[in-house]
Amino acid sequence: MDKPKSTQGRARRSPSDPTEDLIAGLSRKVVGQPEATRVIVPYIQMYQAGLAPEGRPVGVFLLLGPTGTGKTKTVEALADVLHGSEKNVLKVDCGEFQMEHEVAKLIGAPPGYLGHRETQPMLTQQKLTSVTSEKCSLSLVLFDEIEKAAPSMARLLLGVLDKGVLRLGDNSTVNFEKSLVFLTSNLGAREMIREINPDFGFQSVKGGEPRTDLTGKLRNIGMISVRKRFSPEFVNRIDAIITYRPLTAEALSAILDIQIADLQNHVNTRLGNRSFTLEASPEARGFLLEKGSSAEYGARELNRTIHRFLTQPLATLVATNQVSPGARVRVEVAEDRDKLNIRSLAGEAAAASPPPTVMLVDDNRELLHYLERLMADAGWKLLTAESATEAKRLMAEHKPDAALLDYMLPDGNGVELGVEFLQAAPDALVIVMTGTILPAEEEALCEEHSFPVLRKPFLASDVMNQIRGRLSGAGAAGRG
Ligand SMILES: Nc1ncnc2c1ncn2[C@@H]1O[C@H](COP(=O)(O)OP(=O)(O)OP(=O)(O)O)[C@@H](O)[C@H]1O
Ligand SMILES: [Mg+2]
Repeated sequence: MDKPKSTQGRARRSPSDPTEDLIAGLSRKVVGQPEATRVIVPYIQMYQAGLAPEGRPVGVFLLLGPTGTGKTKTVEALADVLHGSEKNVLKVDCGEFQMEHEVAKLIGAPPGYLGHRETQPMLTQQKLTSVTSEKCSLSLVLFDEIEKAAPSMARLLLGVLDKGVLRLGDNSTVNFEKSLVFLTSNLGAREMIREINPDFGFQSVKGGEPRTDLTGKLRNIGMISVRKRFSPEFVNRIDAIITYRPLTAEALSAILDIQIADLQNHVNTRLGNRSFTLEASPEARGFLLEKGSSAEYGARELNRTIHRFLTQPLATLVATNQVSPGARVRVEVAEDRDKLNIRSLAGEAAAASPPPTVMLVDDNRELLHYLERLMADAGWKLLTAESATEAKRLMAEHKPDAALLDYMLPDGNGVELGVEFLQAAPDALVIVMTGTILPAEEEALCEEHSFPVLRKPFLASDVMNQIRGRLSGAGAAGRG
């Protein structure tokens, strides 16, 4: 007869082993910080085996290190792996608790205090439970940027770290025995950056070898600052202090890959069968890395850089129907090396519809400039005029796809101008803006020609959506 022991052995090696999943999942999402996975995972295993000690949280970790190296990301990634969503974290932004009375909000006011019933404590048993999931009963609690909180926060935390219990204002208690507590801090970060040598850009180590000397130095710098800021009792109750390393060029490159893959996933889920495939050239990736990473901010700026140079322009292309379903979308560095060119390689239809050219005619210069900026941000081409005469010249010369015309112009009226424009360019979109009620005659003209009328004041998004909505239809394909 087989002994159960052998089955167990097999189960442990199987690919669906939860521990293996945990390690693999975490190291896939948090790049270049092996210490984080190595230190944290055993505490989770201990909990899952039912061996976590009672009367205290399952684990208490202080995550130190320079900005943008993955401290907060570690906790979010863990939530994703354990609970299926990065949001399953009870997060306390300590920056919001810089004053003593703000710390009191965490635990709620004692009974008898004015309005104590209205002050819901931020940390309750219910909130702890709300971040667990069917998959896992462990709550992840994150006190982010702990050094920013008022000193009473450390006192309050002392009880949590020591006994696993937080006493609320109304004298009830919250039990943290099924929680992992993470404290993150930038303490010593400035000194760490100085140590890393800012001229270097970022630590560039081939083959991902850890620079142990540097890691050790950073750890010392972190510890000195932590001991200066927190009492020995507090420091003693922390299970492990993890020092995050500056990201190597390889790590940053891997993070970029993850973020581009995330963007692709997002496109797939949002657009469904209208989705497309992103292809970033090596130069484009280099461009994003160069603009988005530094010793000072780690990978923090990478998100923003991708958003600015890739996600936003891409969103414009999609919104203006310039990417056809199933297309390959090439991302390359523009000739001026100042931005990225994003081009859909699908059939003729996509190539034939460049961003729309929109003409704005209004003698309200402020509004004109505001809309001009907004549309430029969306990648649209803009023509502006402050009079009907000027507008007619622009129309003849540039044949815009859409015209946004103010009704009251110094030398004419926008409705008549629109009718004239439509005679020359029947496919064009005309939108009339007005600050007053239109006379019946003009109102009728607008209706007859299906001009949308925007009454001032209107929201900028209204204009953009009107133009997008109308140009994404049949009209866009014919122009070019
Ligand atoms: N090691 C990493 N692995 C994967 N992504 C990372 C890593 N480091 C940073 N990032 C990316 O950069 C963003 C910012 O990182 P994160 O918020 O974890 O920084 P942090 O170390 O907490 O910095 P801060 O001290 O400023 O709070 C993350 O959302 C993630 O996209
Ligand atoms: Mg952080």
